[in-house]
Amino acid sequence: MTAAASPAVAQQLDERVSAAVREGLTARPKRLPAWLFYDEAGSRLFDAITELPEYYVTRTERGILLLASDEILARAAEGARLRIVELGAGSADKTRVLLKAATEMQGAVLYEPVDVSATALEGARQRIEREIDGVTVAPRVMDYTHGDDGRLHLGPVVAQERRLVVYIGSSIGNFEPHQAAKLLRRVRAGLRTGDGFLLGVDQAKDEATLLAAYDDAAGVTAAFNRNLLVRLNRELDAEFEPEAFEHCALWNGTRSRIEMHLKSRGAQRVHVGALGLTVDFAAGESIHTENSYKYRPGQAEALLAEAGFRAEATWTDARGWFAVCLGRAV
Ligand code: AVJ
Repeated sequence: MTAAASPAVAQQLDERVSAAVREGLTARPKRLPAWLFYDEAGSRLFDAITELPEYYVTRTERGILLLASDEILARAAEGARLRIVELGAGSADKTRVLLKAATEMQGAVLYEPVDVSATALEGARQRIEREIDGVTVAPRVMDYTHGDDGRLHLGPVVAQERRLVVYIGSSIGNFEPHQAAKLLRRVRAGLRTGDGFLLGVDQAKDEATLLAAYDDAAGVTAAFNRNLLVRLNRELDAEFEPEAFEHCALWNGTRSRIEMHLKSRGAQRVHVGALGLTVDFAAGESIHTENSYKYRPGQAEALLAEAGFRAEATWTDARGWFAVCLGRAV
């Protein structure tokens, strides 16, 4: 496993970025995909978000996992050995609790983190192997949302072992409901009957709590949002003035999602050099940069069932702010 992305992989990413930016900035309303947030600076800003007092998401889920990991793993394993696959692992910090519990349950565990970022995975591999005895990390650099035959390609299966695919941290919240359903079907198609899927979803809750989580007092989320423009300036030779855009978070109750936007403070024209593109903004016009869907009780279970999993159990915190749901491939 090498840390650096190969030139071919890097070029594929450049092309994906260019295509997405051209498409998004010429669309009406203007938009950019949320996966663009995660360059190096964006990943660091996201880590800072997870520690903000207003961002309850990460710590609420961690609290659930601290209490329920043993039970989750025992139910997933049903006496077999488990290997743990994590989709969108990133720095893998959110998975430590589960990995520790897994080593206590079965002595050693193979952890297969999947992410598009080879650098993030290599960092995760070194940290996890150094800090958690008994975990062997086998990173897989891939985009789990796309692929040729509609099936998630995991490595070869081992008889007597079960996979538990974990998709936690509310990552699924970035997907439209129909995309989320499609992603879960993809995962199911890459698993064997009896394998497990652990899904973490953020729950709909009072609007003030939600808004504060996406518009914190210290301005870290605003910096995270504007970093998109910084990235386009660097990678696509664009000329955005990040401070000329206001960070906006709003609650769309009809669709049960938080939306993030970058709203142009005035009328302006911006060149994106590498794309030969000129983009005009009216005063108050915005770029829609993220949706973060918030689930209703029972919705994650329905999504799992629709994708070919039996929803076995759901764990929540006392306030019902976050839910972790175990599905079994049927
Ligand atoms: C990484 C998608 C779970 O939606 O809460 C945090 C991203 N955006 N603050 C979320 C995010 C703004 C986060 N997810």
